[in-house]
Formats: sequence, structure tokens, C-alpha cells
Amino acid sequence: MRLALLLIPSVLVLLVAATARAQAPGVFQQRCAVCHQPTGVGIPGVYPPIAGTIGGYVWLPQGRAFLVHLLLHGMDGAITSQGTTYEGLMPPAADFNDEDLADVINYVLQNLNARQLPSDFKPINAQEFKAARADNLTPTDVLHEREKLLAALGKSSRADIGGR
Ligand code: HEC
Repeated sequence: MRLALLLIPSVLVLLVAATARAQAPGVFQQRCAVCHQPTGVGIPGVYPPIAGTIGGYVWLPQGRAFLVHLLLHGMDGAITSQGTTYEGLMPPAADFNDEDLADVINYVLQNLNARQLPSDFKPINAQEFKAARADNLTPTDVLHEREKLLAALGKSSRADIGGR
């Protein structure tokens, strides 16, 4: 009886932990969290944050395209995020299927970047990934897409929504 009473709190802790984890899709835990960390804060100077920084991208159509291309083709070269420089390589995640990729990027947008999303945000769908698989982009092409996107966001009247 005593043992059972002692066990109850630890079972509750496990249950709460399992529920919290269940919110993130499997792909996020298996792949993205290793570098960007389970909460998306990244590791300063090594892996950029993906929480509170990328929601502004989807105000422009090319921002949706950038995120799709990033997951399918990866990205290579120096970027700046929140004033810190990153010179890493993001590996492509094209080995996951279109539905899984849509789920993971929508999780990152809707759960880790909710405050910057447009109120009429439409989740990125599997079809957008399917259509972009044939695009023959290199990780460096994707880097240039990000540069153009940030320039376009900076010029638009919605400059305040980019998380730079
Ligand atoms: C091996 C480590 C690694 C893994 C795994 C990884 N990333 Fe990345 N990610 C990076 C690095 C490094 C960059 C910056 C690349 C650069 O400097 O060109 C990046 C960049 C990004 C960016 C762009 C951030 C910005 O400021 O524009 C997003 C979004 C992103 N990753 C999401 C993801 C998602 C979602 C996954 C899981 C499917 C993932 N990453 C998996 C290392 C990783």
C-alpha cells in the first residue's frame, strides 16, 4: 500500500511528460529537436532558433515556398538570426513523406511561432511539398531564397513581423 502511494506521484509525472511530448509530431522529435532543441530555442552560434523567429515568413508566398524548400533540400551557408551568425549545414529531411513534413512545419509555425502568424494563416499542405520535390535546388540555392525573402519582408510594410 505504502509503495503504491509512493508510486502515484511518479506515475503522474510520467503521464504529464508523455502528454507534453505527444504534442510534437514524431518527425520533430526524431529529427529537428536534436539540433534545434525540443523547445526550438536552438544552440546559440551553432543551431539557430526556430521558435519566435520564422512565423513572419508566411506573410509572403515566397516564405511558404522557402520553408518547403528548406525541408526538402536543406540549407548551407552563413545566416544571421537575432543578431547571431550561424554557418552550419541544415540537412534535408526529404526522406520523410509529404504529410509528415507538412505536419512538422505546421507544428513549428503554429506552436513555436504562433504570435507572428497572420490571423488567416492556412497550414502548409502535403501537396505543396509534393509539388516542390521535383525542384532541383541545392542547399546554397535555398540560402539565397532566405536572403531574398528577408529583403522582401524588410521592404514590405510588415517589416515588424520578421523575427530578425
Ligand atoms: C543537423 C542539425 C539540424 C537538423 C537535424 C535540423 N536543422 Fe534546421 N537548421 C540547422 C542549421 C545549422 C540551420 C542554419 C543553416 C545555415 O546556416 O545555412 C537550420 C535552419 C533552419 C531553419 C531556418 C531558420 C531561419 O532563421 O530562417 C528552420 C525553419 C529549420 N532549420 C527547421 C528545421 C526543422 C523543422 C527540422 C526537422 C525536420 C530541422 N530544422 C532539422 C540545423 C539542423
